[in-house]
Order: sequence, then C-alpha cells, then structure tokens
Amino acid sequence: MFFNTLAKNSVLLNCQPISHCDAAENWQVGFQDPATPIMEGIINLHHDLMFFIVIVSVFVSWMLARALWHFDKVQNTSASSLSHGTLIEVIWTVTPAIILLVIAVPSFSLLYAMDEIISPAITIKTLGHQWYWSYEYSDYTNNSDEAIAFDSYMIPEEDLEFGQLRLLEVDNRLVVPVNTHIRVIVSAADVLHSWAVPSLGIKCDAIPGRLNQTSMFVKREGLYYGQCSEICGINHGFMPILVEAVSLPNYITWIYNKLDD
Ligand code: CUA
Repeated sequence: MFFNTLAKNSVLLNCQPISHCDAAENWQVGFQDPATPIMEGIINLHHDLMFFIVIVSVFVSWMLARALWHFDKVQNTSASSLSHGTLIEVIWTVTPAIILLVIAVPSFSLLYAMDEIISPAITIKTLGHQWYWSYEYSDYTNNSDEAIAFDSYMIPEEDLEFGQLRLLEVDNRLVVPVNTHIRVIVSAADVLHSWAVPSLGIKCDAIPGRLNQTSMFVKREGLYYGQCSEICGINHGFMPILVEAVSLPNYITWIYNKLDD
C-alpha cells in the first residue's frame, strides 16, 4: 500500500505498478540497496575490508589482553632484559604493509571506476542553493531555445500526502532514465553543499565557482532519496534530493512535457 501511494505520486501516473523506495530506515546500520554498479562496488569493497578489519582487531585485542595478563607486577615480578628482536620487528613491519597493498588493489580499481565517465548520453547540471536544489537539462531546448531548468524544494511536513517521506519528499524530482550513462555536473550558487544519494553511490561536493563531475548508471526504476551532505546553514537538513528513475520511453515523455511547459 505504501509503495502504491508512491507510484501514484510518480510524475508518470500509473505507469509503474510498483515503485521501489530507496530511503534510509530508522536505526539503520548497513547500506541501502544499491541501484548502480558503483554502489555495488562500494558495498563489495566494504565487505572485502571487513575481512581484514576483523582479523586485525581480533589479533591485536588478543595480544593486548595477553600482555596485560602475563606482564603485570604480580604474575611477572622480575622484568625481562629483552629490549628488541630483529626478526619480530621485520615481521610486524612487513605484514601490515602487505595487508595495505592487498587492500589497495580493489580500492584503486573502484576509485578509478568512480572517476571514469563513459561517453554519457545525458548531462544534468545540479546547483545547490540556500536551501534547495536546482536542476538543468541542457541537452534539450524548446522552440524558444530554452533548456529545461527547475527548482526542487522540500515538501514541508504539513503538506505531506500519505506515503510521502518526511524531510525527503520534494516538489520537483530529478527524473532520469534507467540503463543510461548519465553525467552529473555539480556546483553551488552560494555556499558549499553536497549532492548525495546513498543508493546511487553518489556524494559530490557542490562548490561555488567550481564544477564537479560525477556519473550514474541506474539499473532499476524507483525513487532514490538523498540529502544535502555539507553543513550549509540553518536549513541544511531541509534540502533533500529525490531522483526518480524511469524507463526510457517514460523519460522521453517527461522531457516532451517539460519542453511544452
Ligand atoms: Cu545544502 Cu547542506
């Protein structure tokens, strides 16, 4: 029932019987479901790192507990004269270095994958303002040569409809097609903001006077909720981001309607 309400609120009425809803949950500890290959990569890297973190923490804790137990003044009344051992020092220097090298391999491949922008089909410009986002689709122009541009404000609590998420719903969503390489250009008009959508694996600083670039390839239709992630003033918590991923035909219909406005 909740999802149906969301689907009805979708710009393309009744086209989607089910709309996925990717937002944070109360007391959430883990990740949201990934919707882009990049977010899948981030989650995989996290799991890879957890393997080493668990082994290292258990080993270090065990050594610490052992040292505290065996070398207190009751158990060990006469101190050892041992001051160093070359072999053990080589081992405890080289082993962490090797672990870091092993971690660096998947880490760098993910880093470069995130940086890579594969000949995008669409470029969207997003500008942070105090306190709302504005979006521009400069690829398309109407008869008067105007590009699509609109502001996206949070819907205040008293205006929420049933099924809409508090502090996360916006009046004008960023609509994107699925399975398309999209370039996102991020900047700000006044102070620092950050355009962040967890399920898409995006967190890009919006800096006045500077263009930052990121990309997305959304694999499934749905609503992806995010929030400004750079303290930008009193209403920092009230400038959410809502990306609506739709099928390509629906996206084209949406573009046509926007150009007609
Ligand atoms: Cu904009 Cu925080």
